[in-house]
Amino acid sequence: MMLIASDHGALELKESIAAFLTERGIDFKDCGAYDAASVDYPDYAEKVAGPVSRGEAERGILLCGTGIGISIAANKFPGVRAALATDAFMAEMAKVHNNANILVLGGRTTSPEKGREIVAAWLDASFEGGRHQGRLDKITAIEQRFCR
Ligand code: RB5
Repeated sequence: MMLIASDHGALELKESIAAFLTERGIDFKDCGAYDAASVDYPDYAEKVAGPVSRGEAERGILLCGTGIGISIAANKFPGVRAALATDAFMAEMAKVHNNANILVLGGRTTSPEKGREIVAAWLDASFEGGRHQGRLDKITAIEQRFCR
């Protein structure tokens, strides 16, 4: 299952990405926000990063105005690898090298068309493993030392 959420800074882009996921036949749940009222991005990071961290959801997409705040918040959750991408190459590499389980986009930096390209690149890529797995293992080791 995929989860998607955004704050008020990326509602329009979230709607466009949600429509794209539906077109692609991807099963997902929209965790809000559902209107333009000002909200706090850490609350929306938690709606996706919490379940991904606990193994209750496989992957997610998060959005805020720039994608920066919600990335910072999501990456506090153990096991979450949230990657902000502003183009398709970054999104592809986020999966191929970093096995990002959450893709992050910025509603004020990314057009709906570009957003779809970014999401498609992440969905269509595969983690390469090998030396990259060793690096992810080091990130996990850091979490184990500091996040108790
Ligand atoms: C909200 O105005 C804005 O700060 C937020 O969407 C995001 O850009 C934070 O990083």
